[in-house]
Amino acid sequence: MSQTAHQPKVLIAFYSRSGVTEALANAVAEGARADGAEVRLRRARELVPAEVMAKAPGWREAAEAMNAKYGAPTEADAEWADAIVFGGPTRFGAVSSELKAYIDSLGGLWSQGKLNGKAGSVFGSSSTPHGGNESTLISLYNPLAHLGLVIVPLGYADPAMFKAGTPYGASSVSDNQATPPTADDLEVARFQGRRVAFVARALKAAGITDTKQGQGDQVGAAGS
Ligand SMILES: Cc1cc2nc3c(=O)[nH]c(=O)nc-3n(C[C@H](O)[C@H](O)[C@H](O)COP(=O)(O)O)c2cc1C
Repeated sequence: MSQTAHQPKVLIAFYSRSGVTEALANAVAEGARADGAEVRLRRARELVPAEVMAKAPGWREAAEAMNAKYGAPTEADAEWADAIVFGGPTRFGAVSSELKAYIDSLGGLWSQGKLNGKAGSVFGSSSTPHGGNESTLISLYNPLAHLGLVIVPLGYADPAMFKAGTPYGASSVSDNQATPPTADDLEVARFQGRRVAFVARALKAAGITDTKQGQGDQVGAAGS
């Protein structure tokens, strides 16, 4: 089979309020495309009412600008993908509700086993170096495991990892959104995109992503 036959499809589903995580998402996309992947970039939408958004200057404008560029992630996007990469800002040391709401919307696909064997990876940003960046990324490994995704960490498998990022996923420290991701942060994100595409292609070539066993099937198999 040719490389083209196994071209991986990568969904990057992110939330970003002010553009920091968006920049990382674009670098992950760049890396995945450099490895031959077809990429869908999707931005999770706000959950809070307009009056709450209005209290944070610039939130609405930034959201509207990003929403014009990226569709909202859907169930169909997750089913389409061979790899799903989730990204978002740290919120009180944990995942943002906007991104989590998208993950929670995947219950239907989960129950049918339709995400089993796809590659999964995560990235994110925080304001301060020890403000929860790593705990947010590691906590996102929990839903990846439940969804049956094959988790793709970064380790120290590229020289970029010795300058920035985390072994769990690309990251940046924004100093309250004042600092965009550095060149080193973006290099890690590009490496993540390449690595995810590489693993997704290998899983696809091995037929792993053809595993579609759902909950009901597993119960049946156990009884047979
Ligand atoms: C409600 C709220 C909670 C936050 N909690 C944390 C936190 O626990 N630790 C931290 O370092 N930054 C925290 N931040 C800051 C963002 O995670 C950080 O500025 C991030 O880089 C923003 O990325 P974005 O532009 O993609 O939204 C918080 C921001 C908000 C609005």
